Amino acid sequence: MQKEINKIVLVGTGAVGSSYAFALLNQGIQGELVLIDVNKNKAEGDAMDLNHGLPFAPSHLKIRSGDYSECKNADIVVLTAGAPQKPGETRLDLAEKNTAIYKEIVGEIMESGFNGIFLVAANPVDILSYATWKFSGLPKERIIGSGTILDTARFRYMLGHYFNIDTRNIHAYIIGEHGDSELPVWSNSSIGVVPIKEWMAKNPQYKKEDLDDIFIHVRNAAYEIIEKKGATYYGIAMGLVRLTKAVLGDEHSVVTISTYLDGEYGHEDVFIGVPAVVTRNGIKTIIEMNLDDEEQEKFSHSVNTLKDIIKDLQL
Ligand code: NAI
Ligand code: LAC
Repeated sequence: MQKEINKIVLVGTGAVGSSYAFALLNQGIQGELVLIDVNKNKAEGDAMDLNHGLPFAPSHLKIRSGDYSECKNADIVVLTAGAPQKPGETRLDLAEKNTAIYKEIVGEIMESGFNGIFLVAANPVDILSYATWKFSGLPKERIIGSGTILDTARFRYMLGHYFNIDTRNIHAYIIGEHGDSELPVWSNSSIGVVPIKEWMAKNPQYKKEDLDDIFIHVRNAAYEIIEKKGATYYGIAMGLVRLTKAVLGDEHSVVTISTYLDGEYGHEDVFIGVPAVVTRNGIKTIIEMNLDDEEQEKFSHSVNTLKDIIKDLQL
């Protein structure tokens, strides 16, 4: 029986978290949103400021600040707390610092009796998704990392711009680490139902080197934005709203997220970005694409990059 009132608890009301809360309010999510932050004033101030926008919002979202006891009957807990990259820092550089924060936060959440779905966004998101799974003791399907949802969105945006095609008709995936070892799956990318390779053969004005350049811009996008404005937050915030809708709406939709591999793509015991079916109960199915040899090799390298970090952490 579906609950009448959706309840979301957001832990971390910094740039990403507050942008997510603002996007939830503007995209008509209904129910309750509770804001938690170690900086209590920030959480309280954000709740007040967002509530003052309610008269302009498309639907009613009850927003308040609170403490971890609010997680007990929450449907979703969104984790955006954690240190962001400084200019020149990689996401993996944050692993030790943010894993320590997550040990504390997830412990507090589980003490409340939480039994819902975690959406993890802080970086390194694949490592922190694995850590959240370990620290929470919840079934792996109930921990959803944002993974390469943002990289895939950037990829589709840039390809749509290049081919002058609506991004919703660009079916292209970035998989692997949400980070420097991610990879494009050209062998399974299409414009509508036409494989990109075929589209290129029929339209010689489009060049393979342009596509390679697009992927490099996708992989470097965060560094470029952080150099310019200090952090990225709007794109990920909207990706998290997309995931929230998929869970609360029991959509069974395919999204590229970070989830636990148990043999898929030839790997196990790692959280990493792959397309998967998202439902009210978490991850239902992992979509296994047939990777070509080069893609499989790059994916395995990405898995091993993450495993090298995980083995040195106290998880
Ligand atoms: P921020 O510094 O603006 O916000 C972090 C918030 O977490 C702050 O409000 C801070 O008070 C809070 N916080 C820190 N420790 C806490 C604790 N123990 N308990 C509760 N709250 C705590 O950082 P920003 O820009 O919002 O980034 C947050 C995280 O999201 C970073 O790790 C960043 O790398 C990541 N991120 C991930 C993306 C993705 O695609 N997965 C995209 C953009 C950012
Ligand atoms: C991004 C980083 C911050 O992709 O994870 O925006």
